[in-house]
Amino acid sequence: MTGVSVDPASIDRDELERHIREIGGELAAAFPSSARHPMRALDARAMDFASSDQQLKAALFRFVDVTPACRSLDDLARHLRDLLEEVPEAPPPIAAAMRIAHTRAGRTALGAAAAAGVKHMAHRFIVAESPAEALAGLRALWDRGVASSVDLLGEATVTEPEADHYANRCDEALEQIATASPRWASRPTLEADSSGPIPRANVSVKISALTPLLRADAPERGRRDAAGRLRPLLRHARELGAHVHIDMESLDSREAVLELVLELLIEPEFLEGPSAGLVLQAYLRDSPDQAARILEWARTSPRSSPLQVRLVKGAYWDHELVQARQHGWPTPVFEVKAECDRNFEELTVRLLQSRPAVRVAIASHNLRSVANAIAASRMLGGEDRDLELQVLRGLGDELQDALASLGMRVRTYCPVGDLVAGMAYLVRRLLENTSNESFLSEQARGTPLEVLLAAP
Ligand code: 2OP
Repeated sequence: MTGVSVDPASIDRDELERHIREIGGELAAAFPSSARHPMRALDARAMDFASSDQQLKAALFRFVDVTPACRSLDDLARHLRDLLEEVPEAPPPIAAAMRIAHTRAGRTALGAAAAAGVKHMAHRFIVAESPAEALAGLRALWDRGVASSVDLLGEATVTEPEADHYANRCDEALEQIATASPRWASRPTLEADSSGPIPRANVSVKISALTPLLRADAPERGRRDAAGRLRPLLRHARELGAHVHIDMESLDSREAVLELVLELLIEPEFLEGPSAGLVLQAYLRDSPDQAARILEWARTSPRSSPLQVRLVKGAYWDHELVQARQHGWPTPVFEVKAECDRNFEELTVRLLQSRPAVRVAIASHNLRSVANAIAASRMLGGEDRDLELQVLRGLGDELQDALASLGMRVRTYCPVGDLVAGMAYLVRRLLENTSNESFLSEQARGTPLEVLLAAP
């Protein structure tokens, strides 16, 4: 690993495409033959429901917004009914659902039906209700050559005690995983790269859950409040030798989150640890500028361990679109999938060229995007251990096993928590996979491999 910057133009396009096809083919062949299809995890009725129209999507977002305040199924059902009433020309099943929601018993039934559908999905996506219950699952992943990052479900906290509770759950998860994981078998691919050791214990944290005060119009207050809860977590992670990853969420909090993380990590007490990372969202049109800012910070950072940058496409696409349309703002996200995919590939190369100032994690279920990362990394002279691939539990299980079988380091994002806390997470998974253009839907429709691997 030289760390010498290579001009992207110096990667021969034809050769890169050849490598992508070859690696994509190897990966596809390594998918477990008994693979359960990831799309089956999504309840068919829930998929139809969410795909049916834009207003329905908007109603779903508002539903997600109110779930943190719901205390019971009855409560959830009442909110669902109120929101669905705003959807003009609701398709018949919804109209029927609304009729029963007018009585208390009906609401409870509707809530229970919704909860049952959601539970079906949740079992695939959520590892366990608590960190202690998640340990067996994390160990089973490790035994099959897969690292994890635990996400304590919950976000968009509305009160201080809830933010404290979230911080405590993160802390507990760090403690439990760091205590249990030294007993796991040695897995050299998962625990070191050219820059040194990689922690076994890895937790992903959402800043919107660490403070109720995160607002785009008053970022300073939210930052200060979140910092008060993030610092103790970073201290504990440093003592335990664990990794803390800060997730990016919707655009309205991005600036506050980025500033908070970049400032905190260079406070003197954190220069020697913990290992930390953040996220770059390639669906945002201005993500190349964000990348430049993060990479500049990483190059000049006095920290001893490199920042890990997790490149994702982004999970809040529908939300950003709805927000922008409601306010008459220009859309901040790429609306054409191929443009987003191309940007993802360009950012992949840029991050890979910036090693060893950063550790690179490419998070995608798209075979083409993943094959591109592996091919570009190799063509730039990188060792495979200097690239990490990440997937989501329940959606990337087959890809995860294929990557592990090819000797790549793969990390699975593992949500832990209960259904109410996980509602927003589940709706994001539902929406991103009901899009006709989603890679997983295309794969599920039986699109031929050469089409799936074609340049965007
Ligand atoms: C989300 O919570 C995976 O962080 C991403 O949707």
